[in-house]
Amino acid sequence: MSMRILRGRVLSFLSEPQGLDDTASYRYIEDGAISIVDGKIVAVGTFDAALVGDGEVIDHRPHLIMPGFIDTHLHYVQSQIVASYAGSLLEWLNTYTFIEEQKFSQQGHAATIASAFYDELIRNGTTTAAAYCSSAPASVDAYFAEAEKRNMLMIGGKVMMDRHAPEALCDTAQSSYDDSKTLIARWHGRGRGLYAISPRFAITSTPEQLAAAQSLVAEHPECYVQTHLSENNAEITLSLQLYPEAPDYTGIYEHYGLLGPKTLLGHCIHLDHRETELLADTGAVAVFCPTSNLFLGSGLFDRARLQQHGVRIGVATDIGGGTSFSMLRTLDEGYKVLQLRGQRLTPFNSFYMMTLGNARALSLEGTIGTIAPGCAADLVVLNAAATPAMALRMQTATQLVEELFLLQTLGDDRAIAEVYVAGAQAKSTLDGL
Ligand code: GUN
Ligand code: ZN
Repeated sequence: MSMRILRGRVLSFLSEPQGLDDTASYRYIEDGAISIVDGKIVAVGTFDAALVGDGEVIDHRPHLIMPGFIDTHLHYVQSQIVASYAGSLLEWLNTYTFIEEQKFSQQGHAATIASAFYDELIRNGTTTAAAYCSSAPASVDAYFAEAEKRNMLMIGGKVMMDRHAPEALCDTAQSSYDDSKTLIARWHGRGRGLYAISPRFAITSTPEQLAAAQSLVAEHPECYVQTHLSENNAEITLSLQLYPEAPDYTGIYEHYGLLGPKTLLGHCIHLDHRETELLADTGAVAVFCPTSNLFLGSGLFDRARLQQHGVRIGVATDIGGGTSFSMLRTLDEGYKVLQLRGQRLTPFNSFYMMTLGNARALSLEGTIGTIAPGCAADLVVLNAAATPAMALRMQTATQLVEELFLLQTLGDDRAIAEVYVAGAQAKSTLDGL
């Protein structure tokens, strides 16, 4: 068992920051050491040369070492339609998305894009993500096979969709049940892979298909559920036309037993009081996707209102409706969305959300999202002076909070100096994969 020790400034959250002065919510070590054995963190503390022994030391000073970023909602099969010009969600889906996702029935294509997708995650410091595949089972195989190759903790699943989309992309209630079942058996719990039962959204699922998803959830409570909720006004209107008995959009998923603590609901922008209470009561997670919500003109996420009701919140890129793979870029846009809502997001809160906050949203606290003994050594090394503009700004930044805010505001993949996945260097070795 060889030990690897990373030296640098270490920052990890202990709880959700309650304000700029909440120093108890995080642990910051100016000259820190993270000891890693077999891909796991075994010790964290102040660097002490006497304790190094024959361990290998990698010195990242003056950079900041944090838990690897976590992305709780994106579509790996949309990697090649980022930046597609459309007026709104339904136009974007019909014009680009449903065309693009048809390509993934070809195994070769799925493997090629999966590889490029994981490269991009790593380039941006993201070590865990929850992604939608396409409706083709081969796209799920490619997704998890690539995660396994890279030893990454990844969540994903086959999109279930049996109407309101091109025929070539549609499955049926029965085939989506059968294929999901096979994929759960093949991939859930294999390596670090975890499966998400993934009905796309109410518009593209018949009642029979949501009932099939309900059976899957009942038979596999160990799996996640991911879907979209209340992103766009036209989407809401059509959903309620298709499910006229439902009291509201969230009520559709409620009726089919799809809401629970492992349910990830993308967007959740236009929820009324009953829906908000329902999310809080069931423990379902509302996932904030700021770059996507701005790009598609969907609306402004109301974080404060959801939090007041006790709704669990995650944050995500939503590639390809979202416009960046970077969680730094995502939180920068999230900050601006909340500014428009008259809500403040402190830099500590942003970095909490990308790490421990999203680990909690995925019920994975203690496994990822913190730098603590027993956690996976999934880490990101941040360089706040990575570009000339950042270096210039850094000259006047004296506080940790300023450094974090400039990383978020000016940073992107260039600020990611290194990434560790289960203790192995993943960014500097990208080309060697
Ligand atoms: N709603 C249903 N499918 C999608 C999708 O692929 N992207 C976004 N942003 N919203 C959706
Ligand atoms: Zn999405």
